[in-house]
Amino acid sequence: MQNKAFQEYQSLDSHEPELFKILIVDDEPTIIETLRSFLQNLDIGQVTGADCGEEALEYVEQNQYDYIFIDLMMPGMNGIDLLKKIQPYHYPTNIIIMTGYPSMNAVIDSMHNGAADFLVKPFQFDDIKVVLKRLQRLRDLKEKNWALHQELGEKKKVEELNEQLGRRIHLQTILFNIVNSLSEMNQPNEIYRYLVDKAVESCIAEKACFMIYDREEAKLLVLSQKGLGLAPGVKADLTSGSNGKRMIDGVFIQSHFGKAFTGKIPLDKPYTFDGLISVPFNIRNEPFGVLLVADKKEGIPFDKEDEFILQFLSKKAALNIENMALYGNLKENLLASFMSLVSAIEAKDSYTQQHSSRVTDLSIKLAKKMRCSPEDIKRLELTGPLHDIGKIGIQDSILNKPGSLTDDEFAQIKTHPLIGVNIVSPLGLDKGEVAIIRNHHERWDGRGYPDGLSGEKIPRVSRILAVADAFDAMSSSRAYRQALPFIVCIHELERNSGTQFDPEVVKAALAVFKNEGYSSR
Ligand SMILES: [Fe+2]
Repeated sequence: MQNKAFQEYQSLDSHEPELFKILIVDDEPTIIETLRSFLQNLDIGQVTGADCGEEALEYVEQNQYDYIFIDLMMPGMNGIDLLKKIQPYHYPTNIIIMTGYPSMNAVIDSMHNGAADFLVKPFQFDDIKVVLKRLQRLRDLKEKNWALHQELGEKKKVEELNEQLGRRIHLQTILFNIVNSLSEMNQPNEIYRYLVDKAVESCIAEKACFMIYDREEAKLLVLSQKGLGLAPGVKADLTSGSNGKRMIDGVFIQSHFGKAFTGKIPLDKPYTFDGLISVPFNIRNEPFGVLLVADKKEGIPFDKEDEFILQFLSKKAALNIENMALYGNLKENLLASFMSLVSAIEAKDSYTQQHSSRVTDLSIKLAKKMRCSPEDIKRLELTGPLHDIGKIGIQDSILNKPGSLTDDEFAQIKTHPLIGVNIVSPLGLDKGEVAIIRNHHERWDGRGYPDGLSGEKIPRVSRILAVADAFDAMSSSRAYRQALPFIVCIHELERNSGTQFDPEVVKAALAVFKNEGYSSR
């Protein structure tokens, strides 16, 4: 059964009765007890007492109080200090400051720090009722405000999470693009250019420069740049740092990046300086170069995310360069083995000795005459000597047969381009290089082998090698006949131009022979 005092308290407002949690903080136990008895008389909730600020703070950290009565003057932590500390924990709590010596300053200070009311000691039961009545409405408002505040906080949290997620997706996209783009590159120069382009794009910066470390000259050599107007080959001096490590002298930075930089940039770790960032470029953990990026748009300083992206870019690019070097060695070794294989085939037949290198030489001359691309000329240089490597799979008795071949024997001969392609497959040759081996017996009229391609469907390098191959075969002695006179060879080329051979290649061959005085042969 509710007592009279509680009915009185209820009548103060139209609220349903509810149980509150109340904390009283005072260094005088009698005050705590008096107030506790008043409040218990009202039967409005659970009352806890604390005799100092520190103890009160422990309670507050673990409980949510509706009302806290705090004595202003306490030894140790005083009422105002406690008030300031409680604020972050209990926003909707009504805090009532109690003092026996009220002053205007103390009232203002308390209110300023979040106190809801003031109670002057000694107080009467009626004083408590008045204060509670006054605060009840305020407490409701505070609760609503708190709920709204929480809701806004949640919304803000979601927005922050969304923003974080957006940034993460953006970062992952950049990293994915870096890996993807690098995987398609097979030339170091392409990678050096990509480094500066991607650095500028990812950091939204204006300048970037990639330099490699020249140990002998103790200099850094510019390989690629963007936004600096530097020619490749410009050198930056390196000076020894205090720990003996190589560092870029500030003079280079000052003159090319326009920074008032008098220090030195280390080569072995990322470094950020007012509008400039550098990341090392290591190969097998050894300094190989450095990537410098400067002038982020709108003067924003470089941050940790920029550093992360640039380091990722530098590490992936370095790995690609390293792989290219390893692959280059592997390719060179395999090529050397295959070349000795070709020499072995040719050595078996004195008639065909040096055939492959003569065919390659003539092919290159024809390609140059026809203004083929440097890439195609390189392909002929590399793969020309291997065009007949597949003959290793054909019986010597067929290869060196003095008389004419049977249909079956000719069918076997026709397999040598495809056998050759299989032999060189570990080299990872490109399409054009493979075509030299696979299609050097195709005919312009489509009656060749193994694919029966015709006209311009036959790769140009294959059409060139076909003419050089046929010319060398005719102009050198074979097991079954003597070398044909030069003039006969020329007539054969002309006679078969447009049927067996590409007319453009035959025309180039005639021009080359004329220039070089072959007719005297
Ligand atoms: Fe051949």
